[in-house]
Amino acid sequence: MSIVDQALSNRVALVTGGSRGIGRSIARALARRGAKVIVNYTSRPESAAAVVAEIIAAGGQAVSAGFDVSNSAGVTEAIKALGKEHGGLDILVNNAGVAINGLLMRFSDEQWAKTMAINLSGAFHCIRAATPLLLRAKEAGRVINITSVVGEMGNGGQAAYAASKAGMIGLTLATARELASRRVTVNAIAPGFIETDMTADHLPEDQRQKLLADIPLGRIGGADEIGDAAAFLAGPEAAYITGQVLRVNGGMLM
Ligand SMILES: NC(=O)c1ccc[n+]([C@@H]2O[C@H](COP(=O)([O-])OP(=O)(O)OC[C@H]3O[C@@H](n4cnc5c(N)ncnc54)[C@H](OP(=O)(O)O)[C@@H]3O)[C@@H](O)[C@H]2O)c1
Repeated sequence: MSIVDQALSNRVALVTGGSRGIGRSIARALARRGAKVIVNYTSRPESAAAVVAEIIAAGGQAVSAGFDVSNSAGVTEAIKALGKEHGGLDILVNNAGVAINGLLMRFSDEQWAKTMAINLSGAFHCIRAATPLLLRAKEAGRVINITSVVGEMGNGGQAAYAASKAGMIGLTLATARELASRRVTVNAIAPGFIETDMTADHLPEDQRQKLLADIPLGRIGGADEIGDAAAFLAGPEAAYITGQVLRVNGGMLM
């Protein structure tokens, strides 16, 4: 990792679930543009510490912050404290998420509630807590919500996940309208199939081949490709973009 420009210098960015996978790539991409990045995690402090160390070793700025996005009071307290500690918050990336898969008829209330609590309520908790800080951002504040191609096209065995991600799109659009008059932009990125811990486990070779057949670009995406999209939406180039869903999916959904 190396610093590419200072377009985000003096900005503080919070990346939820920044300790692994796509969130790690987003944290690194924002740091490469000069932002001070707060790397959130919930269960693996060592992963967050590794991301922070990597960014600092490359000449960037980063700290870690452990909190569970599904805990409403915990999020409010943590974001308030982080704003105080770092002199504000300019960029919020709602990336933390879980994929609990299973056929709808066998899906439990607990599985449904957990998916919604982390993926959808988690983003709501963070946006609500961050809004007072984003309104006072040094340049225009930015919110970037990581939804999924599945939120727009569905997927068998992922009813809760798809519903939570579709909900994030509605949340993005409504928030974009609410905050536009204060120059805060709110956008979503909808990744297609990206190689991370989330997707590594449960894909037998025959299913992988089937999936590849549905991706016009013929390959699975890399987490850094989502990081680059987030760095674009956070940057000055994207100042006039709000309420959009940027699909980064190899053409899987057009
Ligand atoms: N991979 C894909 O193909 C794909 C496609 C479309 C969308 N997405 C979305 O992209 C996002 C990242 O996915 P990924 O594949 O990078 O997942 P991942 O590798 O499983 O990483 C998930 C991250 O979220 C954090 N996290 C989980 N629950 C949390 C909670 N309650 N509070 C705070 N942090 C929490 C984890 O922290 P700990 O390690 O500390 O638990 C970890 O940093 C998710 O929202 C996912 O739905 C992924």
